[in-house]
Amino acid sequence: SSNPSSYKYEDYRETADWLLSHTEQRPKIAIICGSGLGGLADLLDNKTVFPYKDIPHFPNSTVQGHVSQLVFGELQGKHCVCMQGRFHFYEGYDIAMVTYPVRVFFLLGVETLIITNAAGGLNPNFKVGDIMLIKDHINMPGFAGHNPLCGHNDERFGVRFPCMSDAYDKDLSSLAKETAEEQGCSSFIQQGVYCMLAGPTFETIAECRALQKLGADAVGMSTVPEVVVARHCGLRVFGLSLITNKVVTDYNSQEKANHDEVLETTGMRTQDLQRMVSNLLAKM
Ligand code: 6GU
Repeated sequence: SSNPSSYKYEDYRETADWLLSHTEQRPKIAIICGSGLGGLADLLDNKTVFPYKDIPHFPNSTVQGHVSQLVFGELQGKHCVCMQGRFHFYEGYDIAMVTYPVRVFFLLGVETLIITNAAGGLNPNFKVGDIMLIKDHINMPGFAGHNPLCGHNDERFGVRFPCMSDAYDKDLSSLAKETAEEQGCSSFIQQGVYCMLAGPTFETIAECRALQKLGADAVGMSTVPEVVVARHCGLRVFGLSLITNKVVTDYNSQEKANHDEVLETTGMRTQDLQRMVSNLLAKM
């Protein structure tokens, strides 16, 4: 089911309380790392690490050989909790499982969510390796009834009809832009609209053309459910997409979207991205 009422407030509370009793750290910032970008968690000082499988009620990662753990620690002196390995809808997790950690973060006292992903570039001006600050999103699964807030609304998390027109924090975005310029990344910083599709298929040519007409600049398979749930409970959100490949919009093109290209580009930019998030934290 995609109905988040399959979890109760008490489940999230138990998870949060278990974590609070197993670490003294009280992070104000949560970071969800995208595909190939989990190296950020390794940079934390004074780490406390919890494999997902040890955390009560936490969804269990099914992907073998993937790191799947929650890392508490400090980056630039800021207390953070970092998800190393996230849950995707296309893996078969229902949307309540995908967003479960976000409500736990809220109950831990987290105030800001930083979220990264790998995405395909729809905007013809984007180049492979560009970093896009997310200014807005299109919740395509939401259009089709897969909104994580469908079902009973628990007012302890937020209101029944939350506003999404201010989903991405403008101040954090400007701060990130400033940070990127200072570290010499301005030549590959972009800003734009992220569109989520459920995946796991990459888009057809017709789908890419349709998404461009809808005003999307980048397309991926994550992030939006977490952001919706984060905004519902009042977390401030900063998101960025690494443009790992350009989508195919031409029937004569020989190019094909593939996961190897995605990983290749994350490898090339992972250091810049880590430095950006780290320098951003320093300014927060
Ligand atoms: Cl081209 N499409 C989608 N849906 N997700 C992606 C991607 C493309 N590139 C990286 N992630």
